[in-house]
Amino acid sequence: MTETTFTPRVFSGIQPSGNLHLGNYLGALKRFAAAQNEGIESIYCMVDLHAITVWQDPADLRRATRELCAGFIASGLDPEKSILINQSQVPEHAQLAWIFNCVARMGWMQRMTQWKDKAGKNAQNASLGLFAYPSLMAADILIYHATHVPVGEDQKQHLELTRDIAAKFNHDYGVDFFPLTEPVIEGAATRVMSLRDGSKKMSKSDPSDASRINMTDDADTIAKKIRKAKTDPEPLPDNTDELDERPEARNLVNIYAALADMPVEQVIADHAGQNFATFKPSLADLAVAKLAPIAEEMSRLMGEQDEIDRILTRGAERARAITAPILRQTYDIVGLVPPVEL
Ligand code: TYM
Repeated sequence: MTETTFTPRVFSGIQPSGNLHLGNYLGALKRFAAAQNEGIESIYCMVDLHAITVWQDPADLRRATRELCAGFIASGLDPEKSILINQSQVPEHAQLAWIFNCVARMGWMQRMTQWKDKAGKNAQNASLGLFAYPSLMAADILIYHATHVPVGEDQKQHLELTRDIAAKFNHDYGVDFFPLTEPVIEGAATRVMSLRDGSKKMSKSDPSDASRINMTDDADTIAKKIRKAKTDPEPLPDNTDELDERPEARNLVNIYAALADMPVEQVIADHAGQNFATFKPSLADLAVAKLAPIAEEMSRLMGEQDEIDRILTRGAERARAITAPILRQTYDIVGLVPPVEL
Protein backbone atom coordinates (compact mmCIF):
# COMPACT_ATOMS: atom_id res chain seq x y z
CA MET A 1 0.00 0.00 0.00
CA THR A 2 1.41 3.46 -0.81
CA GLU A 3 1.54 5.79 2.13
CA THR A 4 -0.87 8.71 2.14
CA THR A 5 0.68 12.12 2.76
CA PHE A 6 -1.42 14.17 5.13
CA THR A 7 -1.44 17.96 5.01
CA PRO A 8 0.04 19.44 8.22
CA ARG A 9 -2.74 20.32 10.61
CA VAL A 10 -2.50 21.09 14.33
CA PHE A 11 -5.09 20.11 16.94
CA SER A 12 -5.05 20.44 20.70
CA GLY A 13 -7.50 20.66 23.58
CA ILE A 14 -7.84 21.78 27.17
CA GLN A 15 -10.47 20.75 29.70
CA PRO A 16 -12.78 23.52 30.88
CA SER A 17 -12.69 22.34 34.46
CA GLY A 18 -11.57 25.61 36.07
CA ASN A 19 -8.26 26.89 37.46
CA LEU A 20 -6.46 27.40 34.14
CA HIS A 21 -2.86 27.69 35.34
CA LEU A 22 0.73 28.49 34.37
CA GLY A 23 1.38 24.83 33.45
CA ASN A 24 -1.48 24.94 30.93
CA TYR A 25 -0.13 28.22 29.59
CA LEU A 26 3.53 27.25 29.19
CA GLY A 27 2.92 23.60 28.27
CA ALA A 28 0.11 24.29 25.83
CA LEU A 29 -1.58 27.68 25.28
CA LYS A 30 1.55 29.72 24.60
CA ARG A 31 2.67 27.13 22.08
CA PHE A 32 -0.74 27.08 20.37
CA ALA A 33 -0.30 30.74 19.48
CA ALA A 34 3.19 29.95 18.16
CA ALA A 35 1.82 27.23 15.81
CA GLN A 36 -0.95 29.55 14.62
CA ASN A 37 1.58 32.27 13.85
CA GLU A 38 3.66 29.87 11.78
CA GLY A 39 0.64 29.71 9.49
CA ILE A 40 -0.24 26.03 10.03
CA GLU A 41 -3.99 25.33 9.99
CA SER A 42 -4.85 24.93 13.67
CA ILE A 43 -7.90 23.81 15.62
CA TYR A 44 -8.08 24.41 19.38
CA CYS A 45 -10.76 22.88 21.49
CA MET A 46 -12.44 23.30 24.84
CA VAL A 47 -13.05 19.63 25.66
CA ASP A 48 -16.25 19.90 27.68
CA LEU A 49 -17.21 16.25 27.03
CA HIS A 50 -13.92 15.19 28.59
CA ALA A 51 -14.53 17.46 31.59
CA ILE A 52 -17.81 15.69 32.45
CA THR A 53 -16.07 12.31 32.81
CA VAL A 54 -15.87 13.48 36.43
CA TRP A 55 -18.65 15.47 38.10
CA GLN A 56 -18.98 19.12 37.02
CA ASP A 57 -21.52 21.53 38.38
CA PRO A 58 -23.45 22.66 35.25
CA ALA A 59 -23.23 26.41 35.97
CA ASP A 60 -19.50 26.12 36.75
CA LEU A 61 -18.90 24.15 33.55
CA ARG A 62 -20.62 26.78 31.42
CA ARG A 63 -18.58 29.53 33.05
CA ALA A 64 -15.30 27.60 32.81
CA THR A 65 -15.89 26.86 29.11
CA ARG A 66 -16.36 30.55 28.31
CA GLU A 67 -13.45 31.51 30.56
CA LEU A 68 -11.22 29.01 28.76
CA CYS A 69 -12.24 30.49 25.42
CA ALA A 70 -11.31 33.92 26.82
CA GLY A 71 -7.98 32.40 27.92
CA PHE A 72 -7.32 31.07 24.42
CA ILE A 73 -7.91 34.48 22.87
CA ALA A 74 -6.05 36.42 25.58
CA SER A 75 -3.03 34.12 25.03
CA GLY A 76 -2.83 35.19 21.41
CA LEU A 77 -5.17 32.91 19.49
CA ASP A 78 -7.02 34.74 16.76
CA PRO A 79 -10.46 33.20 16.05
CA GLU A 80 -10.11 34.26 12.41
CA LYS A 81 -6.79 32.45 11.94
CA SER A 82 -7.33 29.42 14.20
CA ILE A 83 -10.54 27.46 14.58
CA LEU A 84 -11.73 27.69 18.20
CA ILE A 85 -14.37 25.20 19.21
CA ASN A 86 -16.29 23.76 22.08
CA GLN A 87 -16.13 19.97 21.68
CA SER A 88 -19.84 19.28 22.27
CA GLN A 89 -20.78 21.65 19.43
CA VAL A 90 -19.00 19.45 16.89
CA PRO A 91 -20.88 16.13 17.20
CA GLU A 92 -18.48 14.22 14.94
CA HIS A 93 -15.98 14.02 17.84
CA ALA A 94 -18.35 11.86 19.90
CA GLN A 95 -19.51 9.92 16.84
CA LEU A 96 -15.97 8.93 15.87
CA ALA A 97 -15.21 8.14 19.52
CA TRP A 98 -17.87 5.42 19.40
CA ILE A 99 -16.17 3.80 16.41
CA PHE A 100 -12.86 3.98 18.28
CA ASN A 101 -14.48 2.40 21.36
CA CYS A 102 -15.01 -0.59 19.11
CA VAL A 103 -11.40 -0.53 17.85
CA ALA A 104 -9.49 0.10 21.10
CA ARG A 105 -9.04 -2.72 23.61
CA MET A 106 -9.97 -2.70 27.31
CA GLY A 107 -6.36 -3.60 28.21
CA TRP A 108 -5.08 -0.48 26.45
CA MET A 109 -7.32 1.76 28.54
CA GLN A 110 -6.45 -0.07 31.76
CA ARG A 111 -2.76 0.69 31.25
CA MET A 112 -3.26 4.46 31.10
CA THR A 113 -1.58 6.11 34.09
CA GLN A 114 -4.14 8.93 34.10
CA TRP A 115 -6.94 6.36 34.45
CA LYS A 116 -5.07 4.66 37.29
CA ASP A 117 -4.41 8.00 39.03
CA LYS A 118 -7.91 9.37 38.63
CA ALA A 119 -9.92 6.21 39.26
CA GLY A 120 -7.57 5.14 42.06
CA LYS A 121 -8.71 2.28 44.25
CA ASN A 122 -12.31 3.04 43.47
CA ALA A 123 -12.26 2.03 39.79
CA GLN A 124 -15.60 0.18 40.01
CA ASN A 125 -17.25 3.44 40.88
CA ALA A 126 -15.55 5.59 38.20
CA SER A 127 -17.63 6.62 35.18
CA LEU A 128 -17.47 4.57 32.00
CA GLY A 129 -16.63 7.87 30.29
CA LEU A 130 -13.47 8.26 32.39
CA PHE A 131 -12.35 4.79 31.28
CA ALA A 132 -13.00 5.58 27.60
CA TYR A 133 -11.49 9.09 27.91
CA PRO A 134 -8.46 8.36 25.66
CA SER A 135 -10.69 7.02 22.91
CA LEU A 136 -12.57 10.34 22.72
CA MET A 137 -9.22 12.11 22.76
CA ALA A 138 -8.05 10.06 19.77
CA ALA A 139 -11.29 10.97 18.02
CA ASP A 140 -10.74 14.70 18.75
CA ILE A 141 -7.45 14.53 16.91
CA LEU A 142 -8.20 12.07 14.13
CA ILE A 143 -11.57 13.54 13.11
CA TYR A 144 -9.41 16.36 11.64
CA HIS A 145 -6.68 14.05 10.32
CA ALA A 146 -4.47 16.24 12.51
CA THR A 147 -0.76 15.56 12.09
CA HIS A 148 0.67 17.49 15.08
CA VAL A 149 -0.55 17.87 18.64
CA PRO A 150 1.19 20.36 20.96
CA VAL A 151 0.78 19.24 24.58
CA GLY A 152 2.58 19.02 27.92
CA GLU A 153 4.53 15.95 28.95
CA ASP A 154 1.59 14.42 30.88
CA GLN A 155 -0.36 13.77 27.65
CA LYS A 156 2.38 11.69 25.99
CA GLN A 157 0.86 8.32 26.83
CA HIS A 158 -2.56 9.36 25.49
CA LEU A 159 -0.96 10.41 22.22
CA GLU A 160 0.82 7.09 21.90
CA LEU A 161 -2.56 5.44 22.32
CA THR A 162 -3.99 7.71 19.62
CA ARG A 163 -1.35 6.33 17.25
CA ASP A 164 -2.21 2.77 18.31
CA ILE A 165 -5.90 3.36 17.59
CA ALA A 166 -5.15 4.90 14.18
CA ALA A 167 -2.81 2.02 13.30
CA LYS A 168 -5.29 -0.66 14.38
CA PHE A 169 -8.16 0.97 12.48
CA ASN A 170 -6.01 1.24 9.34
CA HIS A 171 -4.87 -2.36 9.75
CA ASP A 172 -8.28 -3.88 10.56
CA TYR A 173 -9.95 -2.22 7.57
CA GLY A 174 -6.97 -2.44 5.21
CA VAL A 175 -6.81 1.31 4.63
CA ASP A 176 -4.35 4.16 5.13
CA PHE A 177 -7.01 6.56 6.31
CA PHE A 178 -5.92 7.95 9.70
CA PRO A 179 -2.50 9.59 10.12
CA LEU A 180 -0.08 8.56 12.86
CA THR A 181 -0.11 11.86 14.72
CA GLU A 182 3.09 13.37 16.13
CA PRO A 183 3.03 14.67 19.70
CA VAL A 184 4.83 18.01 19.93
CA ILE A 185 6.25 18.24 23.45
CA GLU A 186 8.81 21.02 23.31
CA GLY A 187 10.33 23.90 25.23
CA ALA A 188 11.62 24.50 28.74
CA ALA A 189 8.27 23.99 30.46
CA THR A 190 6.70 20.75 29.25
CA ARG A 191 6.17 19.80 32.89
CA VAL A 192 5.72 22.76 35.22
CA MET A 193 5.91 21.62 38.82
CA SER A 194 3.99 22.73 41.92
CA LEU A 195 5.39 25.84 43.61
CA ARG A 196 5.03 24.05 46.96
CA ASP A 197 6.55 20.68 46.03
CA GLY A 198 9.00 20.20 43.17
CA SER A 199 8.14 16.51 42.86
CA LYS A 200 4.46 17.15 41.99
CA LYS A 201 3.19 18.62 38.75
CA MET A 202 1.37 21.96 38.87
CA SER A 203 -2.27 20.95 38.73
CA LYS A 204 -5.73 22.50 38.79
CA SER A 205 -6.84 19.96 41.39
CA ASP A 206 -4.12 20.65 43.98
CA PRO A 207 -5.99 21.77 47.12
CA SER A 208 -3.31 24.42 47.78
CA ASP A 209 -3.92 27.52 45.65
CA ALA A 210 -0.35 28.60 46.47
CA SER A 211 0.92 25.58 44.51
CA ARG A 212 -0.04 27.14 41.20
CA ILE A 213 -0.26 30.47 39.41
CA ASN A 214 -3.76 30.76 37.99
CA MET A 215 -4.18 32.59 34.71
CA THR A 216 -6.74 34.81 36.45
CA ASP A 217 -4.39 35.81 39.32
CA ASP A 218 -3.65 39.53 39.59
CA ALA A 219 -0.13 41.02 39.71
CA ASP A 220 0.11 41.05 43.52
CA THR A 221 -1.01 37.43 43.83
CA ILE A 222 1.46 36.26 41.16
CA ALA A 223 4.35 38.08 42.87
CA LYS A 224 3.35 36.76 46.31
CA LYS A 225 3.11 33.14 45.13
CA ILE A 226 6.56 33.34 43.53
CA ARG A 227 8.08 34.94 46.64
CA LYS A 228 6.65 32.12 48.75
CA ALA A 229 7.60 29.32 46.33
CA LYS A 230 9.56 26.52 47.98
CA THR A 231 13.30 26.62 47.20
CA ASP A 232 16.58 25.49 48.75
CA PRO A 233 19.22 27.63 50.50
CA GLU A 234 21.91 27.29 47.77
CA PRO A 235 22.60 29.99 45.18
CA LEU A 236 21.89 29.23 41.50
CA PRO A 237 24.65 27.08 39.98
CA ASP A 238 26.65 27.96 36.87
CA ASN A 239 25.58 24.86 34.90
CA THR A 240 22.29 23.08 34.30
CA ASP A 241 23.55 19.63 35.41
CA GLU A 242 23.65 20.83 39.00
CA LEU A 243 19.92 21.48 38.87
CA ASP A 244 19.20 17.76 38.52
CA GLU A 245 19.14 17.23 42.28
CA ARG A 246 17.28 20.49 42.97
CA PRO A 247 13.75 20.10 41.58
CA GLU A 248 12.34 23.36 43.00
CA ALA A 249 15.27 25.40 41.69
CA ARG A 250 15.02 23.70 38.30
CA ASN A 251 11.31 24.44 38.14
CA LEU A 252 11.75 28.18 38.73
CA VAL A 253 14.59 28.33 36.18
CA ASN A 254 12.47 26.46 33.62
CA ILE A 255 9.53 28.81 34.22
CA TYR A 256 11.84 31.80 33.75
CA ALA A 257 13.23 30.37 30.50
CA ALA A 258 9.80 29.59 29.08
CA LEU A 259 8.34 32.99 30.02
CA ALA A 260 11.37 34.83 28.62
CA ASP A 261 11.58 32.64 25.50
CA MET A 262 15.23 31.88 26.19
CA PRO A 263 17.22 28.66 26.61
CA VAL A 264 17.63 27.36 30.16
CA GLU A 265 21.42 27.65 29.71
CA GLN A 266 21.03 31.37 29.11
CA VAL A 267 19.00 31.86 32.29
CA ILE A 268 21.71 30.02 34.23
CA ALA A 269 24.46 32.07 32.58
CA ASP A 270 22.66 35.32 33.46
CA HIS A 271 21.81 34.41 37.07
CA ALA A 272 24.63 32.06 38.22
CA GLY A 273 25.57 32.67 41.84
CA GLN A 274 22.39 34.57 42.68
CA ASN A 275 20.43 33.66 45.80
CA PHE A 276 16.71 33.11 45.51
CA ALA A 277 16.21 36.37 47.40
CA THR A 278 17.51 38.02 44.21
CA PHE A 279 16.28 35.60 41.56
CA LYS A 280 12.67 35.38 42.78
CA PRO A 281 11.93 39.12 42.40
CA SER A 282 13.33 38.99 38.82
CA LEU A 283 11.10 36.01 38.08
CA ALA A 284 8.11 37.71 39.71
CA ASP A 285 8.63 40.85 37.57
CA LEU A 286 8.88 38.75 34.42
CA ALA A 287 5.81 36.66 35.32
CA VAL A 288 3.74 39.74 36.11
CA ALA A 289 4.83 41.43 32.86
CA LYS A 290 3.80 38.39 30.80
CA LEU A 291 0.77 37.10 32.70
CA ALA A 292 -1.04 40.12 34.17
CA PRO A 293 -2.06 41.46 30.71
CA ILE A 294 -3.52 38.03 29.88
CA ALA A 295 -5.57 38.01 33.10
CA GLU A 296 -6.83 41.52 32.34
CA GLU A 297 -7.81 40.58 28.80
CA MET A 298 -9.57 37.43 30.04
CA SER A 299 -11.57 39.46 32.49
CA ARG A 300 -12.51 41.99 29.78
CA LEU A 301 -13.61 39.21 27.42
CA MET A 302 -15.68 37.57 30.16
CA GLY A 303 -17.75 40.76 30.06
CA GLU A 304 -18.54 39.98 26.40
CA GLN A 305 -20.11 36.58 26.72
CA ASP A 306 -22.29 36.94 23.60
CA GLU A 307 -19.16 37.56 21.57
CA ILE A 308 -17.52 34.42 23.01
CA ASP A 309 -20.61 32.36 22.20
CA ARG A 310 -20.60 33.70 18.64
CA ILE A 311 -16.91 32.84 18.22
CA LEU A 312 -17.57 29.26 19.35
CA THR A 313 -20.61 28.89 17.10
CA ARG A 314 -18.66 30.15 14.10
CA GLY A 315 -15.72 27.89 15.04
CA ALA A 316 -18.01 24.84 15.12
CA GLU A 317 -19.37 25.71 11.69
CA ARG A 318 -15.86 25.90 10.23
CA ALA A 319 -14.80 22.73 12.05
CA ARG A 320 -17.74 20.74 10.71
CA ALA A 321 -16.70 21.51 7.15
CA ILE A 322 -13.66 19.33 7.97
CA THR A 323 -15.17 16.75 10.34
CA ALA A 324 -18.41 15.85 8.50
CA PRO A 325 -16.67 14.48 5.36
CA ILE A 326 -14.10 12.57 7.44
CA LEU A 327 -16.86 10.97 9.52
CA ARG A 328 -18.80 10.07 6.35
CA GLN A 329 -15.73 8.36 4.89
CA THR A 330 -15.08 6.55 8.19
CA TYR A 331 -18.68 5.23 8.26
CA ASP A 332 -18.28 4.09 4.67
CA ILE A 333 -15.02 2.24 5.47
CA VAL A 334 -16.69 0.54 8.45
CA GLY A 335 -19.71 -0.50 6.36
CA LEU A 336 -22.43 1.65 7.89
CA VAL A 337 -25.22 2.23 5.34
CA PRO A 338 -25.65 5.98 4.71
CA PRO A 339 -29.01 7.77 4.36
CA VAL A 340 -30.19 8.56 0.79
CA GLU A 341 -31.85 11.72 -0.53
CA LEU A 342 -35.65 11.25 -0.33
P1 TYM B 1 -5.57 19.27 30.45
O1 TYM B 1 -6.83 20.04 30.36
O2 TYM B 1 -5.28 18.52 31.71
O3 TYM B 1 -4.32 20.19 30.17
C1 TYM B 1 -4.26 21.02 29.03
C2 TYM B 1 -2.85 21.14 28.52
O4 TYM B 1 -1.99 21.67 29.52
C3 TYM B 1 -0.87 20.80 29.68
N1 TYM B 1 -0.47 20.82 31.10
C4 TYM B 1 0.78 21.07 31.52
N2 TYM B 1 1.90 21.37 30.84
C5 TYM B 1 3.02 21.59 31.57
N3 TYM B 1 3.03 21.53 32.93
C6 TYM B 1 1.94 21.23 33.65
N4 TYM B 1 1.97 21.20 34.98
C7 TYM B 1 0.72 20.99 32.94
N5 TYM B 1 -0.54 20.67 33.31
C8 TYM B 1 -1.26 20.58 32.18
C9 TYM B 1 -1.37 19.43 29.27
O5 TYM B 1 -0.30 18.58 28.91
C10 TYM B 1 -2.25 19.78 28.10
O6 TYM B 1 -1.49 19.95 26.92
N6 TYM B 1 -6.55 15.13 27.86
C11 TYM B 1 -6.20 16.54 27.74
C12 TYM B 1 -7.20 17.35 26.91
C13 TYM B 1 -7.47 16.82 25.55
C14 TYM B 1 -6.59 16.89 24.44
C15 TYM B 1 -7.31 16.29 23.34
C16 TYM B 1 -5.29 17.36 24.27
C17 TYM B 1 -8.62 16.22 25.13
N7 TYM B 1 -8.53 15.92 23.80
C18 TYM B 1 -6.73 16.18 22.10
C19 TYM B 1 -4.72 17.24 23.01
C20 TYM B 1 -5.43 16.66 21.93
C21 TYM B 1 -6.15 17.13 29.13
O7 TYM B 1 -6.77 16.66 30.04
O8 TYM B 1 -5.45 18.27 29.20
